[in-house]
Amino acid sequence: MDMMEPAPAKVNLHLHVTGRRSDGYHELDSLAVFAGASDQLLYRPAAELILEIQGPEAAALFTERDNLVLRAGRLLADAAGVPGRGALVLKKALPVASGIGGGSADAAAALRLLDRAWGLGWMASAEGRARMMALAARLGADVPVCLAGRPALMQGIGETLLPAPDLPPGGMVLANPRQPLATPAVFRAREPGFSAPAELPTGWHDMPSMAATLATLHNDLEPAAVALCPAVANVLVALRALPGCLLARMSGSGATCFALFADGQEAARAALQLPAAWWRWGGGFTAGGGSHYSPLASRAGA
Ligand code: C5P
Repeated sequence: MDMMEPAPAKVNLHLHVTGRRSDGYHELDSLAVFAGASDQLLYRPAAELILEIQGPEAAALFTERDNLVLRAGRLLADAAGVPGRGALVLKKALPVASGIGGGSADAAAALRLLDRAWGLGWMASAEGRARMMALAARLGADVPVCLAGRPALMQGIGETLLPAPDLPPGGMVLANPRQPLATPAVFRAREPGFSAPAELPTGWHDMPSMAATLATLHNDLEPAAVALCPAVANVLVALRALPGCLLARMSGSGATCFALFADGQEAARAALQLPAAWWRWGGGFTAGGGSHYSPLASRAGA
């Protein structure tokens, strides 16, 4: 039977650009959470490492020369000194180049899945998880948080993960106007200047109080994304008009935006009111793929 690993959408509840490194990468302060919307990665034994891409959003990846999933597989095989064989099937449900981690989530799912499939057991020990985190950081700035697969405060360029405040149960709507946005272009179009890191409480008891805190924060990439893709502004207007919407903001470098709701069912109903031409999803938060492996320090031990 195939082994399966989910690759849930990463959502940046706030994203402050706090600095810029000499190599051009930006330093961030961002609370990342995971939505129930996800891609799925399947594994079955095979004589070599191959990848088939299926699903509603697969077509956007057919022209790609080297999928991040295969790069993750090769990197792990090299690092672990194993042959690195297997037939992977990526069921692509999340829109690509859309600010919710897509390719990073898939790469992180590949690391978790192949760790199991190849019997490496890295994710089962603190030392192995640290090695895996280092590989994740080489694959992309968002891959470490997707590997952790649970809410985390991202710092550095994304490779430094701190425990997130305790989150209340709640719902979320995701909406994408079906226009891809290239992350480097959005960072380039950003107004100069930096934000301070967010000051967050240790947790929230309910969604309205979490939304109230988040309302004092921002996504520093939102104005640049709106300038490059004006449809992002339309998505935000539509989300804010949904009954029960507590807060709406863009995720990552866009164009996907999220809205917070008191519960998942309310969010699922609200999503259906958005234009059918958009990619839209509504439901609850998730602990994410592989949360039981979490490489993060616990709050008490942090
Ligand atoms: O690491 P990743 O390949 O996901 O990053 C894509 C691009 O996004 C980088 O080449 C860079 O232009 C930009 N980026 C950045 N600062 C970050 C993350 C990404 O400038 N922290």
